[in-house]
Amino acid sequence: MTNSFDIVIFGGSGDLSIRKLMPALYRCEAEGKFSDDTRIFAASRSTSSSLRDKVLAGLESHLKQGELSISTWEKFSRRLNHLSVDLAGDGEEWAVFAEAIAAPEEKTVIFYFAIPANLYGATSLKLSNAGLIKTNARVVLEKPIGYDLESSKVINAAVAEYFTEAQIFRIDHYLGKETAQNLLALRFTNVLFEHLWDNKTIDNVQITIAEKVGLEGRATFYDQAGALRDMVQNHLLQLFSLVAMEPPNKMTAENIRAEKLKVMEALRPMNEEAVRHNTVAGQYTKGEMDGEERSGYLDELGNPESATETFVAIRAFVDNWRWAGVPFYFRTGKRMKEQFAEIAIQYKPVSHLVYGEEAGGLMPNSLVIRLQPEESIKLTLMTKELNSTDMRLKPVDLDLDFSDTFERRYSDAYKRLLLDVVENNPTLFAHRGEVEQAWDWLTPVLEAWAKPEHKPSSYASGSWGPAEAKELLSGQGRRWHGD
Ligand code: BG6
Repeated sequence: MTNSFDIVIFGGSGDLSIRKLMPALYRCEAEGKFSDDTRIFAASRSTSSSLRDKVLAGLESHLKQGELSISTWEKFSRRLNHLSVDLAGDGEEWAVFAEAIAAPEEKTVIFYFAIPANLYGATSLKLSNAGLIKTNARVVLEKPIGYDLESSKVINAAVAEYFTEAQIFRIDHYLGKETAQNLLALRFTNVLFEHLWDNKTIDNVQITIAEKVGLEGRATFYDQAGALRDMVQNHLLQLFSLVAMEPPNKMTAENIRAEKLKVMEALRPMNEEAVRHNTVAGQYTKGEMDGEERSGYLDELGNPESATETFVAIRAFVDNWRWAGVPFYFRTGKRMKEQFAEIAIQYKPVSHLVYGEEAGGLMPNSLVIRLQPEESIKLTLMTKELNSTDMRLKPVDLDLDFSDTFERRYSDAYKRLLLDVVENNPTLFAHRGEVEQAWDWLTPVLEAWAKPEHKPSSYASGSWGPAEAKELLSGQGRRWHGD
């Protein structure tokens, strides 16, 4: 059981809260993680009191089958409170708010900002004026923090006026995924990989987050953000930093963050020409997915003019000793053929072939770390085909599928990270420097794509993205893992 705490979710009846936060909190309840006096407040502008119905409906559709139980729900719903507050409201409204959430001085109070990032500063100010930012207060900031480097600096600075850096938790739920953490365990506890993690043995690294979903009712947010801000600036670059960073001296938050920042700083800066050669923006058009016709992005949006990208592929280079010359490929998109997230490490071919052609082609080794839908780590090796009298070679997988190997459980990145906030453990959260560095690296891409002449390439819903994404690799005789 954790220490007692209160959590106040701004944007409490919004999409993120209903789809991710409430299910995560429910799971904490089911696992007995809450002390009796833990309270959950969903703050929103609405004055309707139907929060419990909305949360219950959300749990019914977002929990796994069989996870929702009446007794746990009853316990959970007793902790739930709806607070109606207008973030732009006056002092009196905030005084009522403060009274509603009043708690003993020593109780941890977590403010979760599931609201647009341009409101983070103003909301912090209101909390401060209402006397709510005490020593035990913490704030969780959702990504993307800002729209570009400048706005992100302004937001970070505004929040920093009221909360210390130690009180600020910048959440990136990809860091809470089991396999992302397992990647660190794999790298730093196995001698096997220590010598196989650099440009001498690795040919290229591919990080893909492919989604089948489209806009999902988030049109306003998404059309302003696009895939670069929504996914690359945060999730993909965070995963990149875990793959590419140097070993930290210790697994402490400071050490890990310092190494992550260092490797992000080593990303080769882009310029206009690099953007042209090394990046691909795509936008989905109509197409068939699982036997059903899906509309294109512009139709879904109801705006035929939008040039927002729903797909991104990038070839990046890391200018340091370990990674010189190794391309890192990033890819993410909506309405793609399959839904998965993975990191594929492609090794170089052996330096000399000792078998003749009759043994069959050799496939270079690969290590594939799957974050979802299944959590697994797969190492592909070449072996001799069993019982073949002549020497035939074939690739086999050494497969560590966690859902088979370990007791099946409901891993939930948000649950894990929320409990880390309660425990005051910032290891899996992004530091201000990392967030700003990620924006900084992407600035030339943002600028090039903001030009009126820029148009994303089209790709059909249910495909692997625009043809240019393939060409990003095929030019050098490579291909996307699984293609
Ligand atoms: C969110 C993005 O951060 O991550 C969404 O805003 C995206 O657009 C989601 O769908 C993907 O997360 P997951 O955990 O479902 O892969």
